[in-house]
Amino acid sequence: MKTYIVGNWKMNFSVGESSLYLHKLLLKIRAARGLEVVVAPSLVSLQSLSLQTDRRKIKLAAQNFFYRDFGAYTGEVSVSQLRSLVDYAIVGHSERRYIFKETDKDVRNKVAAALRNGITPILCVGETESERTFGETADVIRDMVLGGLSEVSAEDVKKVILAYEPVWAISGSGRNVKPASPLDVKDVFSLIRETLKETYGKETAEETPLLFGGSVSPDNAGGYLSLSDCNGLLIGGASLIAPKFIDIIEEAKRLKSEK
Ligand code: 13P
Repeated sequence: MKTYIVGNWKMNFSVGESSLYLHKLLLKIRAARGLEVVVAPSLVSLQSLSLQTDRRKIKLAAQNFFYRDFGAYTGEVSVSQLRSLVDYAIVGHSERRYIFKETDKDVRNKVAAALRNGITPILCVGETESERTFGETADVIRDMVLGGLSEVSAEDVKKVILAYEPVWAISGSGRNVKPASPLDVKDVFSLIRETLKETYGKETAEETPLLFGGSVSPDNAGGYLSLSDCNGLLIGGASLIAPKFIDIIEEAKRLKSEK
């Protein structure tokens, strides 16, 4: 299975800054077998970056889209309009669920829309701090995984990438958060694989890529990537700083060659 290193730039960088940053990354990154480097820039930068990038080195992802393919939806962009620009699309990120009030229905419709358009959805799931405190983590994760996949046919489930991003470990808006320990992540990864196995069978459970995200840095990336169930990382803040993002990619390459 491939290792995915995905940088979520969130609402950062102008079109010009995105282009300069991509240029810098393309100069530094060498394509490596089994390693997929993906960046998710702002929507306004996708068109120009799609012409600029070398897809063998860096592929693009959308951070968001609407699930209808076309129609009277002022201000929205459909995944079918993104088809030639991106290979991946992030769905159900906690910032969209909690700040923009995306519902479970939105999330499952988006996962289905991405697959229908040949784009790989990166479905994010993760519990909040209070859900963890009240011992609800397993139920929340199970509901989010099965809910997000409920419009997907059993044979297509392994085309979805799942990203476990505990909300309490995401370091957005300058909050000081405590990163998750690899042990915390290991438990939830096992739970996700078990849930997939019970519902879709062993093969799907083993072949569905699982990523981790939340305060990933060059210092802790190796700890997560070394987990046997971990197929990659979804990185926010550290993906905005070239030396950090590149260090994480190098670590992934190193561990991949050891596996
Ligand atoms: P940070 O790496 O900044 O905590 O963000 C994680 C994230 O939300 C990636 O999608």
